[in-house]
Amino acid sequence: MFLVFLGGFIARYAIIGLGKIGTAIAKALIKSGVDPGDVSGSVRRVESVERVRRELPGVFVSTNNAEVVRDVDVVILAVKPYQVVDALMPIRDVLDGDKLLVSVVAGVTTRILEGLVGARVVRAMPNIGIVIERGVTAVSPGSRASEADVKVACGIFSSMGRCFVADERYMDAITAISGSGPAFISVILEALWEAGLLLGIPTGISWELAVGTLESSAELLRVKRPWSVIEEVTTPGGVTIRGLKVAEEGGLRGLIMRMIEETARRGREISQDIETSIRSIVNDLGRNT
Ligand SMILES: NC(=O)c1ccc[n+]([C@@H]2O[C@H](COP(=O)([O-])OP(=O)(O)OC[C@H]3O[C@@H](n4cnc5c(N)ncnc54)[C@H](OP(=O)(O)O)[C@@H]3O)[C@@H](O)[C@H]2O)c1
Repeated sequence: MFLVFLGGFIARYAIIGLGKIGTAIAKALIKSGVDPGDVSGSVRRVESVERVRRELPGVFVSTNNAEVVRDVDVVILAVKPYQVVDALMPIRDVLDGDKLLVSVVAGVTTRILEGLVGARVVRAMPNIGIVIERGVTAVSPGSRASEADVKVACGIFSSMGRCFVADERYMDAITAISGSGPAFISVILEALWEAGLLLGIPTGISWELAVGTLESSAELLRVKRPWSVIEEVTTPGGVTIRGLKVAEEGGLRGLIMRMIEETARRGREISQDIETSIRSIVNDLGRNT
């Protein structure tokens, strides 16, 4: 477990958006040793406050973002992309260069966030694995973030699994592989299970075989390269090579690559749409003030 320190003192955290991901982050921080009294968070609707109080005892919860971020060192932004402007604009004066803003909002670039607030910004893309402390998270520093800021951000996500630092230009591809990946792996696993049913294996046994094989293959692939696992399993003239031939004939590798490529392309499109819409909201606000 990883206790997160900021320059020698224990950091205080605010999480704007205690929904699915925000709550998972709060739980992981507390499990890693952060005092619940050093975590505060916000939600949009009054009725959500009770839910969060039940899920996160000891954590200060409010619908008032200014109240939540005032005395903290690190602000984690976990609202939906279209909620970013509403969440940040009223507190832009409080989010100054003294604070670190760690955003997990998909598709919103550090450039956009740095245009909205004065804080140092680090963008993070965790995946759903963080809810079982087996997440994979990539973090990218914005232009004002220091190496220490990146360490703090990665420290947070290391308490929930693995964390890597990556250039922000890879974020759409990263989102496609590790963010959407659990959905793709689920489809592959489901097909493996259904193949067992097709061949008459009882439902429960087929499921155990499929999940168990996925788990052991993943563990094995931590210490061995794929080609060496393939070589070990594939007897010349045997059964596995017959299946591999069908996979090659069906273009399985190319299909998987195209799947990721297309997902990343959609990520880029959404990111551009979000940027356009945030810019127009900010311009409208500017005209009306
Ligand atoms: N789910 C994933 O696997 C995943 C992975 C990586 C990144 N992300 C990113 O994480 C972000 C959150 O996703 P989620 O699935 O956790 O969404 P979610 O469950 O809908 O949570 C969003 C939370 O933000 C709160 N909120 C909305 N506007 C607010 C405001 N102005 N001030 C304070 N709180 C506000 C909402 O409050 P109420 O509860 O009152 O509505 C809700 O609790 C998204 O941007 C997503 O791209 C998600």
